[in-house]
Amino acid sequence: MTVTPRPKVLIVDDERDFAVSTARALALEGITCLIAHDSATALAQLTENPAMIALVDIRIRHEDGTQLAARLRAVRPELLVIIMTAYASIDSAVAAMHAGAHDYLSKPFFLDELMRALNRCFEVLALREDKARAEQDLAILRQLEATSRLATGLSHDFNNMLAVIQANVSVILDRLGPDHALAAYADDADRAARAAAELVARLMNFTRSGQALPEPIDLREPVATACRMMQHTLCVDMRIALDLPDVPLLVPVAPTMLETAVVNLLINARDATEGRGRVIVTLSLLRQGGNYARLVVQDDGPGLSAEVEAMSLHPFFTTKPKGTGLGLPMIQQLALAAGGAFRIGTAPEGGARAVLDLPATTQPDGENM
Ligand SMILES: Nc1ncnc2c1ncn2[C@@H]1O[C@H](COP(=O)(O)OP(=O)(O)OP(=O)(O)O)[C@@H](O)[C@H]1O
Ligand SMILES: [Mg+2]
Repeated sequence: MTVTPRPKVLIVDDERDFAVSTARALALEGITCLIAHDSATALAQLTENPAMIALVDIRIRHEDGTQLAARLRAVRPELLVIIMTAYASIDSAVAAMHAGAHDYLSKPFFLDELMRALNRCFEVLALREDKARAEQDLAILRQLEATSRLATGLSHDFNNMLAVIQANVSVILDRLGPDHALAAYADDADRAARAAAELVARLMNFTRSGQALPEPIDLREPVATACRMMQHTLCVDMRIALDLPDVPLLVPVAPTMLETAVVNLLINARDATEGRGRVIVTLSLLRQGGNYARLVVQDDGPGLSAEVEAMSLHPFFTTKPKGTGLGLPMIQQLALAAGGAFRIGTAPEGGARAVLDLPATTQPDGENM
């Protein structure tokens, strides 16, 4: 969840002044460089550091830079190499491209030319990252489909049990009357049973594609309801701070799905903080290539290790003795079905930070947000 720093650039050039001044100029642009003046150092630097781009002179001492480029790519196949040469010729350009170079700059060049070449590399790296993420989402979606087929088999019996719970709770609600001190608790139980019934229905429908989107709702309501319900029941010793926007955030999503998502995240936070943590739930409008409602649930627990973070969205992955490992995958499914995104990781200040982005529609008065 931390902001990805810009990839490091390895400069390989035996002209020391050139290498150092280029590194200084790039540092001012926020780009960290590693410097090597010979091929052995370049290979060692690449082995030890996560550089993703190399700026390689075509001649380093008596060595051929294009051959070095090929050796560097043998160490790190995904490395993007920009070959620099003082002798711009078709032959050297062709040799550079054959060695797997991504781009070609002829010396001397201005900083803005170099920045243009580097920005093209950054774009390629960002696209690769997006592709890897999309592939991971697809793999998770396939697992979710298999899960939902399994769930379909169980849901019939589960629905029967829920019907019994709902029937009993409504008898209790009737007997207590609306003014009884326990009525609010019975109301929450009723609401949770309804949410569970809807969840089962959603699981059963998951494999059916082309479902119409639900009517847009103001997300502030289900988020507030879930927080209130949990504060009174399963998370009494936890401090839940809720930060809602002043304006409605309209999203086409079933309210109980969103309540369930918040409940799942709060229960995870409770488990991670042994029930006594502090959780901040924030809902806000995000304008990033369109309007999104962003829900952030951040706790002050230990956060997620890299291994747990990598597995956390896979169905049935759990580190808890009684966990089912379906809480986060269900939120991921909700996000993907709505055209949004869901991520969880460790916040820079520690603690877990879950972020759910859902495409938001318009204000009730029809104006675009
Ligand atoms: N707030 C958090 N802090 C630390 N680890 C977390 C947090 N939320 C989730 N995790 C990790 O991710 C795993 C998967 O979470 P998920 O909610 O999908 O399943 P679960 O909580 O284990 O079981 P359940 O299906 O009952 O929710 C957890 O077992 C835990 O290891
Ligand atoms: Mg959970």
